[in-house]
Amino acid sequence: MRILSIETSADETAISIVEVTGEFPTATYTLLGNALRSQIEMHNQYGGIFPMMAKREHAKALVPILTIALTEAELLEEQGGEAALSEIVISKLREILNREDNLADDLLAFLSTYTFPEIDMIAVTSGPGLEPALWVGVSFVKALAYILNCPVIPVNHMEGHILAALFDVVEDDKLADIAFPAIALLISGGHTELVLMRDWIKYEKIGETRDDAVGEAFDKVARLMGLPYPGGPEIGKLAAEARTASLPPYKEKLPRPMITTPDFDFSFSGLKTAVRYSVEGETLSEINKQALARDFEEAVTDVLIKKASNAINTHSAKTLIIGGGVSANEFIRRSFETILLSTHPEVEIYCPKRGLSTDNSIMIALAGHAEMHTARTAGAIPLIRAEGNRSL
Ligand code: KG4
Ligand code: ZN
Repeated sequence: MRILSIETSADETAISIVEVTGEFPTATYTLLGNALRSQIEMHNQYGGIFPMMAKREHAKALVPILTIALTEAELLEEQGGEAALSEIVISKLREILNREDNLADDLLAFLSTYTFPEIDMIAVTSGPGLEPALWVGVSFVKALAYILNCPVIPVNHMEGHILAALFDVVEDDKLADIAFPAIALLISGGHTELVLMRDWIKYEKIGETRDDAVGEAFDKVARLMGLPYPGGPEIGKLAAEARTASLPPYKEKLPRPMITTPDFDFSFSGLKTAVRYSVEGETLSEINKQALARDFEEAVTDVLIKKASNAINTHSAKTLIIGGGVSANEFIRRSFETILLSTHPEVEIYCPKRGLSTDNSIMIALAGHAEMHTARTAGAIPLIRAEGNRSL
């Protein structure tokens, strides 16, 4: 079957076309086309994402991105004759997309130029995320489903991050054959969660952040240091330089909030505040920035490893899955591998392959296929709407 997947929950507009052979979780996923446009430049000047601006940019990007993805998949054909859309279809599409700026015009122009290839299922992120941004994607797939007459699966973005960590896009286009129970540590710009998986598609949230998400802490600390958004990669780079130069600590040791509490929850706002106090009134030299970035990265990593270890111990987990944008961080990956494997040598760790840590639509195709599997067994595909606070 052929899946078209769409992601618009934050500041990436992404569309993939994936050919699936076999059943979840042993299927092979062949990536036919994949296109992504980031709004990072746009939000850079504000140090974060502005939901209404994100919505407008998604609306602008969706049809161009769809065109690129379908072209890459070699599935786009120009129409020979004149457009055959009836007035009824046109007005229905306009009605579905009436809140999405230019999107109806763009889609109608696309449909009068190209014939749409056969698609068996559409997967779209319905949450969690920024609601205005999510709605653009959801409305767009409603319009596409109306034309293509195919089912739509509303996907949980966090399930996408979990499956992305298990997907081997380099070797065999399959999900790893993992042992359960598994613990998923999800570390992104909007979320920090520990999830227990007793089996495929069974998600039980056992802990989460009580304030800032890890990625948010990276972004806020970067901003305090005068670094551009998103702060994660910038801090990672500086921290690596500090390690190469064996720099001493910037100032006193930074706190590791909640590291000793027996639960699986997190808190990062105190760490961010500690950084704010330590830089207040200071002009940071390049060396100061490197040292502080390293100190901050280490504080975060210590907490993540301790909490993930607690979860693994409590639930006798055999697998640790690390997903979300922050899982791109080299130091965090390396530390998990060395420290966790020294205490839990029996645990297998999975991290996303390059390009699959941060938001993308390949993970939405994977989660859509997983959900289709459950919807089919349950005999129902739910109605779609954007849910900013959707949980696993
Ligand atoms: O998963 P994601 O792309 O979007 C959300 O679902 O939130 O995560 C984005 C977050 C941002 O906060 C960004 O700073 C962080 O991931 N990030 C990193 C790195 N690359 C991205 N954090 C630390 N180190 C990185 N290399
Ligand atoms: Zn994400």
